[in-house]
Amino acid sequence: MMVCIIPPRLFWAIMMVVLFNSNLSFAKQSKINGLKMNVIDRCWRPNPEWRTYRSQMATCSVGYAGKMTNNIGKNLIHYTVTDPSDDPINPKPGTLRYGASVIQDKVWITFEKDMYIKLEKSLLISSFTTIDGRGVNVNIANNACLMIFKATNIIIHSIRVHHCKPQAPGFVMGPEGKVIPLGQVDGDAIRLVTASKIWIDHNTLNDCQDGLLDVTRGSTNVTISNNWFRNQDKVMLLGHDDGYIRDQNMKVTVVYNHFGPNCNQRMPRIRHGYAHVANNLYQGWLQYAIGGSMKPSLKSEANIFIAPRTGSKEVTWRKSTDKNGDRWEFHSVGDIFENRASFAVTKGGRVPKPNYNKEQSFKVADAKFVRSLTRSSGVLRCD
Ligand SMILES: *[C@@H]1O[C@H](CO)[C@@H](O)[C@H](O)[C@H]1NC(C)=O
Repeated sequence: MMVCIIPPRLFWAIMMVVLFNSNLSFAKQSKINGLKMNVIDRCWRPNPEWRTYRSQMATCSVGYAGKMTNNIGKNLIHYTVTDPSDDPINPKPGTLRYGASVIQDKVWITFEKDMYIKLEKSLLISSFTTIDGRGVNVNIANNACLMIFKATNIIIHSIRVHHCKPQAPGFVMGPEGKVIPLGQVDGDAIRLVTASKIWIDHNTLNDCQDGLLDVTRGSTNVTISNNWFRNQDKVMLLGHDDGYIRDQNMKVTVVYNHFGPNCNQRMPRIRHGYAHVANNLYQGWLQYAIGGSMKPSLKSEANIFIAPRTGSKEVTWRKSTDKNGDRWEFHSVGDIFENRASFAVTKGGRVPKPNYNKEQSFKVADAKFVRSLTRSSGVLRCD
């Protein structure tokens, strides 16, 4: 049996527990064995048969994306990428672009083998698409990268996206399966434009020309979890421009991610909207970790902020765009500050609650567990 992630000794320990407690949930088994996995991971990783039951992972998401159950069930197409080549206008069956843009039905995309994909243009992902790179090493790198444009119900899992470059305007297969003109695109790893119900989990994002992850133009209901962001100036942008008032409704959960080393700023930078930033590990920054403008609200909860040896010790940064003074709601609850890190919280005001519904809510762990909860952030390695 192929075993991913779990070392053999641990696997047998789990099997013993399975044998003796066959009616226990995987969650309980993983606790018994002291794996200290976070709530998302312990929903699927302890199952040695996860390859057979890949789509079960859709029930594991938490935060504003909620459960991704619209991505599974009846009529789900299983599509395997066998061909790393790319044609942005006339994608061939077997390529990633065919599965992600042309197929309009509910589709779960996996990869036949390790793959290095150089996209000729941004990949516009259709609604109800899951891209699942678990078990193989998939790199999308060195040219155009991923974009979610006017689409919903999308999972991006276990993909390495790096060295993304800006793209000149041109034609590309759109998310509705028709060729569309696409304007100039900045060199971001993953860019959300008017997107909702999006789950981005266990990806490794680094070294792009613009940013790593942008959530813009009315995008909302997004969970960004278990990712590893490194080697980047501008890491994560929530809310694209000051004038875009619709982003007041933006809701983003940022949980169990590892930022650094070598990240400079924007982890995230937020405009308008609300972000719940919980249980992340911040391995230094240069300018700042969390910043914003245009009356954003942010609850920083039980993260570990390790200040850099040189550079600013202060986590936050605020930009005033309004002569009358901008209003920020930046609150810190239960965070751990190391290396003399500091967090200038908004005085007065109330800590804005995420107000999750039942399927979005999760228990934020004590910050002292964050190192172990984020230990396997980024793409998981398999035996
Ligand atoms: C976001 O999620 C909430 C709760 O599930 C839902 O009521 C709302 O309609 C969603 N918004 C969008 C734009 O999908």
